[in-house]
Amino acid sequence: MHAPPPVDWPSIRADFMLAPGEIYLNNGTWSALPRPVFEAQVEWMKSAEANPTRVGAARGGEALWRVHGLLAAYLSCAPADLVFHVNVTQALNQALFSYPWKSGGEFLIGSREYGALVNASKEAARRHGLRVRMLEVPAQPACEDELVAGILAQVGGEARGALLSHVTTGEGLVLPVARLAKEFRARGTILVVDGAHAPGLVPVELGNADIDFYGGNLHKWFLGPKGAGFLYVKQERQGVLEPRAVGWGGTPRDAVPDAQRFGGARFPHVFRIQGLHDFSAFLALEAALRYRASLGEERIRARVAELVAHARGRLCGELGLKDHSPKGALHAGLLSVQLPEAWRGRDAGARLYERNKITVACWPMPQGGPLVRVSPGICNSEDDLDTLARAIQAGP
Ligand SMILES: Cc1ncc(COP(=O)(O)O)c(C=O)c1O
Repeated sequence: MHAPPPVDWPSIRADFMLAPGEIYLNNGTWSALPRPVFEAQVEWMKSAEANPTRVGAARGGEALWRVHGLLAAYLSCAPADLVFHVNVTQALNQALFSYPWKSGGEFLIGSREYGALVNASKEAARRHGLRVRMLEVPAQPACEDELVAGILAQVGGEARGALLSHVTTGEGLVLPVARLAKEFRARGTILVVDGAHAPGLVPVELGNADIDFYGGNLHKWFLGPKGAGFLYVKQERQGVLEPRAVGWGGTPRDAVPDAQRFGGARFPHVFRIQGLHDFSAFLALEAALRYRASLGEERIRARVAELVAHARGRLCGELGLKDHSPKGALHAGLLSVQLPEAWRGRDAGARLYERNKITVACWPMPQGGPLVRVSPGICNSEDDLDTLARAIQAGP
């Protein structure tokens, strides 16, 4: 086999549609979309408009199943255990609210979880008669064993379920979710994984893991269109999940409408088409997979790691900013640093954009300057990170 040709990473910026001068360092919220993926999505929309009924529905139907299969292969799971969702919030709401949690125990929520899913978990727990308890997760554990032991020490016999991210939103802490799920299961606790940041950033291999519920986004690091996410449910949990919107796919108790597909599995049908909507974001995932393959899956991940290391060197090494992210294999994609005291009370996000057209995520902190979360993607170059460092050094 020939080694793939080297990628000239700075030139990859031309694949994206960012306006000239924009320094987009917030790929952890929404990544910039590669042009070939955008064009594939627009093509689908155009073909649907040529005759929405004949072209859109007929072609979209089979193509959607094909993309479904391709995504399952990417996530190393059976297509029968996967359904599309527009985002991870919707995907995990489906799992959290419809799983018949046994009342009277606890639901654990990791201390670094994303607010929307903290809200969803609390409400699902309330409706199922579960007490909520926070599971402390350190931002900067020394090693994986310490992290796992610290988490497991907090999981008692009363815990029916727990919500943890695969990669945390603030500091990019990578949790060994497969290892944790196995340990949780041995303790009778079902792990619900928020994989918002994982696909495209770290390997996601679901089929052989003991993970029961895993929701993910494809509009972040995967470089898919906005409005593309998924829910994976382990086979033995599927029969009890009621769809939040019942459509043509019926319920888990109805006959399988298409016995040929995926070994006659019912789950993908129940959750697939809950009314007509625009499927183009899902359909264009095939183009996203093609784009990723053209650059090399591992090389994309390595490039993001290289950019994060560069950012860390400039911001924490040279400027001496406080690093809030973990290191080594426990870290990916999202670097959180705290700005100096001079920035306290300042809207750093607005300032950096007004002055330098830099987009980053920022949060005020109870003490000291605000936190800046830098999430570079392959649309960025080292120059973008150097400009950020200079802008921070210049002060508010
Ligand atoms: C860890 C995490 N979970 C969930 C979400 C929510 O994603 P969405 O709004 O696309 O559902 C985010 C968004 O940034 C996130 O960072």
